[in-house]
Amino acid sequence: MKVLVVGSGGREHALVKGILRNPAVTEVYALPGNGGIAKETKVTCVPGNAEDVAAVAAFAASVDDLALAVIGPDDPLALGLADEIRKLGIPCFGPSKAGAQLESSKIFAKEFMRRHGIPTADFAVFNSLDKALTYVEEASLPLVVKADGLAKGKGVTVARTREEAREAVRACLEQKVFGQSGERILIEECLEGPEVTVLAFCDGETLIPMVPSMDHKAACDGDKGPNTGGMGVIAPNPFYDAETAALCEERIFRPTLKGLQKDGLPYRGCLYFGLMLTKDGPKVIEYNSRFGDPEAQAVLPLLETDLLTILLATAEGRLRETQVRFSDKASCCVVLASQGYPGKLENQGVTLALPQDLPDVTLYHAGTKLEGGRLVVSGGRVLGITAVADTLEQAIAKAYEFLTECLFYKAQYRTDIGQKALTYLAGDKERKK
Ligand SMILES: Nc1ncnc2c1ncn2[C@@H]1O[C@H](COP(=O)(O)OP(=O)(O)O)[C@@H](O)[C@H]1O
Ligand SMILES: [Mg+2]
Repeated sequence: MKVLVVGSGGREHALVKGILRNPAVTEVYALPGNGGIAKETKVTCVPGNAEDVAAVAAFAASVDDLALAVIGPDDPLALGLADEIRKLGIPCFGPSKAGAQLESSKIFAKEFMRRHGIPTADFAVFNSLDKALTYVEEASLPLVVKADGLAKGKGVTVARTREEAREAVRACLEQKVFGQSGERILIEECLEGPEVTVLAFCDGETLIPMVPSMDHKAACDGDKGPNTGGMGVIAPNPFYDAETAALCEERIFRPTLKGLQKDGLPYRGCLYFGLMLTKDGPKVIEYNSRFGDPEAQAVLPLLETDLLTILLATAEGRLRETQVRFSDKASCCVVLASQGYPGKLENQGVTLALPQDLPDVTLYHAGTKLEGGRLVVSGGRVLGITAVADTLEQAIAKAYEFLTECLFYKAQYRTDIGQKALTYLAGDKERKK
């Protein structure tokens, strides 16, 4: 069986590794892939740009008997790559352009939630600078200002003061720092509570949630410093207990699936629920139309049933009849980044000498490439180290132990991935005594 994986990050490395576990796979094409993906057996990296929809579709069409295309990142989905691949008669894991609007337009997503009664923060929509600024003067603080479109994780400001809110509004509507993505904005009520990511397989008829996880977005320990793509993840997320899961199923997952059906939005892929557990119950902060990166690197290693079987069943609308089972172990993924990330990067081109994976520790590559057979650093987030163990505490310890063997010149990482979860678990034990 031949499979195409579109994208070049740690998420795509996790997808490739998962897919390769199925012995029926003869060849995986990664477009464009990265240094770690290129080193896997049975993998061919195909140079190209994942966002060049016509070129990626043309490549898919050129492969004889391509069984499945899996699209990792948001941009090609927003551009309609999944629709183009399906037009060729090739099964595709990744939602239609229409379905991907749940991520590519935050306003579309909020109106979808309002229409279908899905709990989320109150909001107002603006395209006029004057009206937005007037609203900022009158609304109660803190306020959250969001650019409508894709903004590489930089389009959201949680404003504690009116001046911060004004600045964020002006950045979008006056200085147009996000271009088209910021031509319309959302101003939201600020919610409070722990955040949880729930990824779900969804084929439009059936929605199966995966193990809940916790991302760590800030660059530095103690959630300090600028926001990044994600510096580490633990799973399961202990804040998401059985009662919360039941509430999410009833108030969020089922209404979302019904809403997709009612609105005629085809959705065959991963649906990402960014949730906040507020004192008024779980609410949706955002949807994404793909696996999270690095959430995928912590969640997929806990999957016990075959990933390729699930991806194919999702792409073909047969998820209902498919087994999806996760182990009850815990995982921790720690990201090793280049110094300076998410700003100006320091150590590009530095050679990497890396250890072999262990049975319960896996190294996922992101910003690496092969240069004449030499593996070098080529990006902000470079590696993700995922350890799986019986307890979260053990998984964290194992990930950090392995990390010391992966350090490269001018590497940067957080030392406290999972600590908030451990503290909560310790308190939970006390409460249950
Ligand atoms: N209404 C809100 N109340 C409180 N915090 C929020 C709210 N919306 C977003 N945030 C915070 O900002 C982060 C980024 O917002 P999000 O909508 O997930 O955008 P993106 O991930 O596309 O940048 C969230 O993870 C959350 O911490
Ligand atoms: Mg987010």
